[in-house]
Amino acid sequence: MVKKIQNFKGERMIQRAEKLDSFWAYNMEDLPKDRQLTLLDNAQFIYELALAELELQSLGARFEVTNGLREFRLLETEDDELLRKRLAYFKFVKGEYTDYLQIIQNNRTRSVNQYLTHWIYPYKGKFHPQMIRALLNIIGVKQGDIVLDPFIGSGTTAVEAQLLGINCIGIDVSPLCVLQSKVKTESIDVFPQIMEWKEEIIKRIRPSLFNLEGKTVDDIINSIPEERTRNFYKMAKLVAISDNARRRE
Ligand SMILES: C[S@@+](CC[C@H](N)C(=O)[O-])C[C@H]1O[C@@H](n2cnc3c(N)ncnc32)[C@H](O)[C@@H]1O
Repeated sequence: MVKKIQNFKGERMIQRAEKLDSFWAYNMEDLPKDRQLTLLDNAQFIYELALAELELQSLGARFEVTNGLREFRLLETEDDELLRKRLAYFKFVKGEYTDYLQIIQNNRTRSVNQYLTHWIYPYKGKFHPQMIRALLNIIGVKQGDIVLDPFIGSGTTAVEAQLLGINCIGIDVSPLCVLQSKVKTESIDVFPQIMEWKEEIIKRIRPSLFNLEGKTVDDIINSIPEERTRNFYKMAKLVAISDNARRRE
C-alpha cells in the first residue's frame, strides 16, 4: 500500500527553487504550450529514447513513436497528473509543463542535470539525475515506497527519490559520499539555521578561510551544535578547498 506523505521534502525543494528569480536557464515564455507529449531537447542518445519509452509504459500511457523515435503521440493515459509529476524525458503532457521542465528551468547552467542540490559538489562518478528519475519510474517505485542504493556515491538516487516522495536508504564506504548525500537531502530542513550561521562564519574566518588568526576553520565549524547545519558547512569548506586548488592550477 502507498503511504500518503504530506508536503514531503522534495516538494519543499521544488517550492524553494521556484522562489529563485536570478537564474533562468530556460525561458518558459518561448515554449509552445499546445504540445501533447514532447521530448526534452537534450534527450538524444538511443538509450535515453529507450528510457523515455519505458517510463511512459511504466506510468500507464499508451503512445505511438514516429520520426525515428523523435516524436511521441499520446493515445491514452491512466493519470495525466502522475505523468506530469514523474516523467524525466518530456517537456509537456497534454499541453502542460512537466515538473521536470519546471525544476530545470531554475538551473544555473543549461545542463539538464545540474538542478537543485545535484550540482553542489563536483563528483565525477555521478549518475545523470534524469536517468535515475526515469529508472525510478521504470522499476515502478511509488510515493511512500523505499529504494535502496548500496553505492550511493554523491547521492543522486537520494535526491531524485526525495523529489518524488520516495524514501531512500543510501550506503557508501566513503565518508565524503555519505556527507554529500546527507547535505544534498537534509539542508532543506535547516535552511534558517544555515543562514543564521553564515554571517557568524564569515565574520570568524578572517583574514581568509586559508589563513586564519587563532582558531582553525574546523574548530569553528565543529562548534555548530546542530548536525545538519554543521554538515552543510563541512561540505562548504570542502567545496572552497577544491575550488581554491583548481584556481591555483
Ligand atoms: C560510481 S560511484 C556511485 C555514484 C552514484 N551513483 C552517484 O550518482 O553519485 C560508486 C560508489 O560506490 C562506493 N563503494 C565502492 N565499494 C563499496 C563497498 N564495498 N561498500 C559501499 N560502498 C562502496 C564508492 O565509494 C563510490 O562512492
